[in-house]
Amino acid sequence: MSKTPWLPLIEQQLKENPKSTTYAFSTLSEEGKPKVRFVIHRDITPNALLLTTTDTRMSKPQHLAHSPTVEVAWWIEPTNVQFRITGQAISIPSPNTSQDFQRAIKTLGVEGLEEGKEEWWENKRKELWKGVSGHLRAGFGRPTPGKKLSEVEGSDKWPETIPAESDKPDEQKTIQEAYDHFAIIAIAPSAVEYLELKPVPNRRTQWKRQEGGEWEETKVAP
Ligand SMILES: Cc1cc2nc3c(=O)[nH]c(=O)nc-3n(C[C@H](O)[C@H](O)[C@H](O)COP(=O)(O)O)c2cc1C
Repeated sequence: MSKTPWLPLIEQQLKENPKSTTYAFSTLSEEGKPKVRFVIHRDITPNALLLTTTDTRMSKPQHLAHSPTVEVAWWIEPTNVQFRITGQAISIPSPNTSQDFQRAIKTLGVEGLEEGKEEWWENKRKELWKGVSGHLRAGFGRPTPGKKLSEVEGSDKWPETIPAESDKPDEQKTIQEAYDHFAIIAIAPSAVEYLELKPVPNRRTQWKRQEGGEWEETKVAP
């Protein structure tokens, strides 16, 4: 069995359905209440962490700092399969923040791996920043998400789109402010469930990560 038996299945699904990149991502609030929202899948790291991105000022980074346990529900509509992924997640701090990088690495269990190096994450953050649209990038420079609209400046002043980088100092300043809010969320799966709704009878396969890092597979009744 491969090192991460569920990974080729996700990769194959993404290859066949490149538009199916949205999944529901659930965290726990500081009060222990479940909070769920959709996010976009951005990448998978060499050691099988799932990556999405967010704004440091949104709720997710705070929730994860308080409680890293998360669950993802990912329905790939064209092939009618669902992945349910349980694990530990954390937002990876930009080097410009006071967040504890070593704590993030420990939460993800990637000490000593490529993903254990701060430089690796900074390169990845830059790569993902370049990969998102100018409209999405501009959002990171706008007023704090969740703040009352009556308390923020006129929306006509907010830039609609920004490039990933610029030679013009004024524009680069705007970009840097937005980029400082751009964070990666990394998810280290500890259990994965694969539900196939096309075959009759349906199929449900579960994998659980064991102490030594190997994955135990169980097929269950759907
Ligand atoms: C299709 C879709 C994709 C989204 N992708 C993301 C994303 O990748 N990252 C993100 O932070 N929010 C994304 N959002 C917005 C979130 O669902 C949510 O509204 C926002 O992140 C605030 O959530 P929070 O305050 O609980 O962190 C997306 C929303 C939709 C409908």
